[in-house]
Amino acid sequence: MQTIRDPKSLKAAVKVLKAGGKSLALVPTMGALHAGHIELVRQARKQAEAVAASIFVNPTQFNDPADLDRYPRQEAADAAMLAEARCDLLWLPTGEQMYPDGFRTTIHVAGITDRWEGEHRPGHFDGVATVVAKLLVAVQPDIALFGEKDFQQLAVIRRLVADLGLPVEVLGVPTVRDKDGLALSSRNAQLSADERKLAVALPNALQDAAGRIGGGEAVGPVLARAKQALVDAGFLKIDYFALVDAASLEPLEAPAGEMRLIAAATMGRTRLIDNVCVISDTVS
Ligand code: PAJ
Repeated sequence: MQTIRDPKSLKAAVKVLKAGGKSLALVPTMGALHAGHIELVRQARKQAEAVAASIFVNPTQFNDPADLDRYPRQEAADAAMLAEARCDLLWLPTGEQMYPDGFRTTIHVAGITDRWEGEHRPGHFDGVATVVAKLLVAVQPDIALFGEKDFQQLAVIRRLVADLGLPVEVLGVPTVRDKDGLALSSRNAQLSADERKLAVALPNALQDAAGRIGGGEAVGPVLARAKQALVDAGFLKIDYFALVDAASLEPLEAPAGEMRLIAAATMGRTRLIDNVCVISDTVS
């Protein structure tokens, strides 16, 4: 695996990888890699002839400076994991390269960013949309892979790519979970051993609620029960626990079409997000 830090060598390396019309996939990350990220690389290997990954802890998508400071950084271990997963190229841009003096452009994807993560993390999706657009323009991959773990992010990126007509196919990859069901996340490392045990209440509440809604129970009481289960398990703050339309992310009061249950809640000082798909017996 080739590791690249400056944009000029990136251009040359991408040219080599794409030589002879070879297809290239990009897996953008913020590092602190785990099996979820590696699954994106594995899927990328299946979909394209060459695979690139980027690691950039993007300051503009952190609305809380303490959260940015706390974000885990482990470049050497990350590089080893990517090489092991047969990634061809690792790009490690610096803050100055991405946001040089005079940088003034922000991409705002309207509507779909108003609620949920967008509401609770003001400016977050502007940071994500802008950096993802920059990464895609710099690498010019044929395919870019993102996890369903960040379901709203995936929807925002699909909208961004469609609206700007970026010549890339966006592929969503199902969430990779620990044995007990907790979604793998770089943030899980911030949980204490006790908090880690309690955190499983989040996927459990989502699965339970998805089963109940799928089985025809009224949505309102199911969501109320799920939130109570999280409070009982020790989650301090529940930002949202909602049934939404899978494409528009608009809230649903009753089952309709393609649906997703999405949630964000704080365990100790760690904010966790997760989501599951809802299959309804009663929706045709
Ligand atoms: P990061 O949190 O590092 O995640 C990188 C990619 O890995 C994202 O597409 C995310 O959805 C995916 N991912 C994380 N945990 C996963 C899991 N358990 N299963 C499957 N996929 C998982 O998301 C970002 O970085 C940034 O916002 C980024 C898109 C890189 C822009 O800065």
